Amino acid sequence: MSQPLTTLEVEKIRADFPILHQQVNGYPLVYLDNAATTQKPQAVIDALVYYYTHDNSNVHRGAHALSDRATAKFESARKSVADFINAAHTQQIIWTRGTTESINLVAASWGADNLQTGDKVLVSALEHHSDIVPWQMIAEKTGARVIPIPVDNSGTIEMEAFVALLDSRVKMVAVNHVSNALGTINPVAEIIKQAHAVGAKVLIDGAQAIAHWPVDVQAMNCDFYVFSGHKLFGPTGIGVLYGRRKLLEQMPPYQGGGEMIETVSFSGTTFNQLPYKFEAGTPDIAGAIGLAAAIDYLNTLDRAALAAHEDALLAYATKKALAVPGLKVIGTAKSKAAVLGFVIEGTHPSDIGMLLDQQGIAVRTGHHCAQPLMQQFGTPGTVRASFSFYNTFEEIDRLFAALDKIRQLLL
Ligand code: ALA
Repeated sequence: MSQPLTTLEVEKIRADFPILHQQVNGYPLVYLDNAATTQKPQAVIDALVYYYTHDNSNVHRGAHALSDRATAKFESARKSVADFINAAHTQQIIWTRGTTESINLVAASWGADNLQTGDKVLVSALEHHSDIVPWQMIAEKTGARVIPIPVDNSGTIEMEAFVALLDSRVKMVAVNHVSNALGTINPVAEIIKQAHAVGAKVLIDGAQAIAHWPVDVQAMNCDFYVFSGHKLFGPTGIGVLYGRRKLLEQMPPYQGGGEMIETVSFSGTTFNQLPYKFEAGTPDIAGAIGLAAAIDYLNTLDRAALAAHEDALLAYATKKALAVPGLKVIGTAKSKAAVLGFVIEGTHPSDIGMLLDQQGIAVRTGHHCAQPLMQQFGTPGTVRASFSFYNTFEEIDRLFAALDKIRQLLL
């Protein structure tokens, strides 16, 4: 285990994120909503400004210098992503708008060809709506069923129950790497191994994991891995679908239009090669370039030290939370990443969120797009503080000092 960052190192990193240095409602901002979206280092902002100032053009189309430059940067960004997650080929990296679109693409395209009446798709009870609803939609069309994998009251997947659900009718297992609502880190290697043993494919929703530690899709042996650029310190509007090459080659296109075709005629159209077969229309060129800048930035840092710092923040915050009278932590799995969800007896999460905001502290409140999970915990929602490597122990002290004040006000 690497040493966590020193205070000096955290301050140096914070200097790279201009947005963090502002007052909100008369207080220095404490940004603890990193699971919703992460902030952007100056290097990402500069890459976007540079692109629009110097290179803006459409890709793969123009016969001019700007288009060549935009295309070269866009394709080099694809290579950055492939290297970042250790994909074997750039053709396995499909640009999407984000995790949600990546899952919809797989559900609609792979699902249409591979699901039939009586087939099953297993999703964990921890899933975000974006890893439930696309499967329900394709199940409705194909006659397949979506079955939840149970989680226990700590928010941990019940592995025995999962294995018991596996049989030859299970065609897809879709689970998140880290739960957005609770922070549970799922045992994806074991899940993939067990699912493959019955011939099922596995999609891992990496939206909440990708920012926290290095991901190696080949070592993990998943069939699909999906994530969003904006949760990885990159821009909104750009996301990634990684897929096993053979599967992507077999899958039909998701959307039709320019770029995804080889030839078009009224007697029949042929489709482009990977990855373009899945990239109809003008892509988010600036977004891809911005995401590559975020990856370059991360690669200048010691990621093991960042992860150790985040673990230390979570442990510190959890200890403080357990000392607050009436506070119940929602999500107490042994293995967790950077998320502290809680409720306080006699208060409503949205009141707490509003009162924290009045003291300059940003958290998310509500059901976190995970209503089935909230139902299991018997609450309509929680307060969620989620951490990144630029957060400090002093910010956590601010959170709990503010919660003390709020309890006095409300209780
Ligand atoms: N999925 C994001 C979150 O959990 C938006 O906040």
